[in-house]
Amino acid sequence: MNKLAQLWRIASHPRELRLALSGLGARLAGDDAMGGLSADETAAVCRWTSSGGVDVFVEIGTLFGFTARAVKAASPGVRVIAVDNFCWNPFGLKPDEHEAFAHRVLEGSGVELVRADAEEFLAGLAGRLDPARAMVFLDGSHAYEDVRRELALLKSAGAAVLSGHDYGNARFGVTRAVDEALGGVDEQCGMCWLKRAAR
Ligand SMILES: C[S@@+](CC[C@H](N)C(=O)[O-])C[C@H]1O[C@@H](n2cnc3c(N)ncnc32)[C@H](O)[C@@H]1O
Repeated sequence: MNKLAQLWRIASHPRELRLALSGLGARLAGDDAMGGLSADETAAVCRWTSSGGVDVFVEIGTLFGFTARAVKAASPGVRVIAVDNFCWNPFGLKPDEHEAFAHRVLEGSGVELVRADAEEFLAGLAGRLDPARAMVFLDGSHAYEDVRRELALLKSAGAAVLSGHDYGNARFGVTRAVDEALGGVDEQCGMCWLKRAAR
């Protein structure tokens, strides 16, 4: 059975989906190469969102949607938008398969899934929502130049809260990009970071 068929079968059965989500969540938490957040990092992002005075949470690079789902469950009144161009996943799924699985994971959660490139989405941010009421979590490309461009777009849009993953991860260019563009962070939990815009 191919990988998508296996994942689809799991996603079609609520009990199996719950087990798979918890099992996969644990794998994502326990293995940086799997691309997800740890339980502590997820809890921090949920806490920052619920106490951040924001109406919208945007996750750039949602993978399968586990973090977006957790944020929405923790803050049902916050609009949650999950953005991904489906260029990478740890199982080697094709982009359409990856998107279909993320849709399945997010079904019924209230999370809006948008297939888009990060920079394209961020360039049009102000046309979709009020950036001054938004927290944006960057976890798509981890390349220095890409993160620099994403941060420049967010700063010019006036996003209220900037955040992301892989700050302090020596494998990527996130730390240098964040420090240069924002002069450091206000809060950190594991490799998650947060910076409130100066008002
Ligand atoms: C590390 S994973 C994200 C993990 C996710 N935030 C979580 O907490 O489970 C990176 C994701 O970013 C996506 N991605 C990478 N570059 C992107 C880009 N330029 N625009 C949109 N999505 C991108 C990949 O397809 C992948 O799904």
